[in-house]
Amino acid sequence: MMTDLKNTTNNVMNETANKKEVCLQLSNIAKIFRTQDMETHALRSVDLTIYKGDFVSISGPSGCGKSSLLAIMGLLDSPTSGSYHIVGKDVSQLGVDMRAEIRNKSIGFIFQSFNLIDELSVFENIALVLRYREVDSGSKELTESEIELAVHSALAQVDMGHRAEHKPNQLSGGQQQRIAIARALVGKPAILLVDEPTGNLDSKNGDAVMGLLKSLNKAGTTICMVTHDTRYAEFADTQMHLLDGEMITEPVFMIGEAS
Ligand SMILES: Nc1ncnc2c1ncn2[C@@H]1O[C@H](COP(=O)(O)OP(=O)(O)OP(=O)(O)O)[C@@H](O)[C@H]1O
Ligand SMILES: [Mg+2]
Repeated sequence: MMTDLKNTTNNVMNETANKKEVCLQLSNIAKIFRTQDMETHALRSVDLTIYKGDFVSISGPSGCGKSSLLAIMGLLDSPTSGSYHIVGKDVSQLGVDMRAEIRNKSIGFIFQSFNLIDELSVFENIALVLRYREVDSGSKELTESEIELAVHSALAQVDMGHRAEHKPNQLSGGQQQRIAIARALVGKPAILLVDEPTGNLDSKNGDAVMGLLKSLNKAGTTICMVTHDTRYAEFADTQMHLLDGEMITEPVFMIGEAS
């Protein structure tokens, strides 16, 4: 009787796991940087699967390969070996143009530095993503009112609708990072890739930005974040650890709320 119940429970759990849609899949990824007199093995046989709706953190000490891994996931760099799929599409061997197109459509980046353009308003900083994407992929041009709608909806998601006409240097660091998050969200990417989002913020603003990422994830956004700060890693539901270019642990699945 107990065995039957256990089997049924296991089957239900397996079915739930099977229904999860794979967002990104890295298999046996290696990255070697070659400079004049030395080779650096930044990543060694990394396997990682991220499902739609996941919030994954990858933490590890400085130099362990976090940014190198994120650059490969974001199609900013290519691995030395291994395979990489985004939403089922093999992107390991694509040329520069195709990579840029998929990057613009599927990936939203958030970095430690906000990288906003000081001469443009908050609105225009975010709208730029949509304008640039049209030119780049040759897809149907959005009308000005469609762009306006998308930008205001992204600003609302980060609770910054009241600052659309400000310039970035008229905002606090925490507010600038929220604008950078809105910019990452506006194109409705498959995943947000986040590198040390709190690195330039004091702990109050850092906590607020992490709270925002957590609530975006709860509303359905898939997130992969790298950080050396283990306190912030705990906001993620799945915590991975990288050491000397290798994943050293199996994922830890948190039950219930992270503190
Ligand atoms: N373009 C490059 N050329 C040569 N070596 C590089 C290059 N980029 C990174 N490396 C090396 O690869 C290793 C991993 O670097 P990476 O930037 O991924 O570390 P990280 O975990 O992001 O560190 P941090 O926490 O300090 O940001 C380091 O030893 C670094 O020196
Ligand atoms: Mg780094």
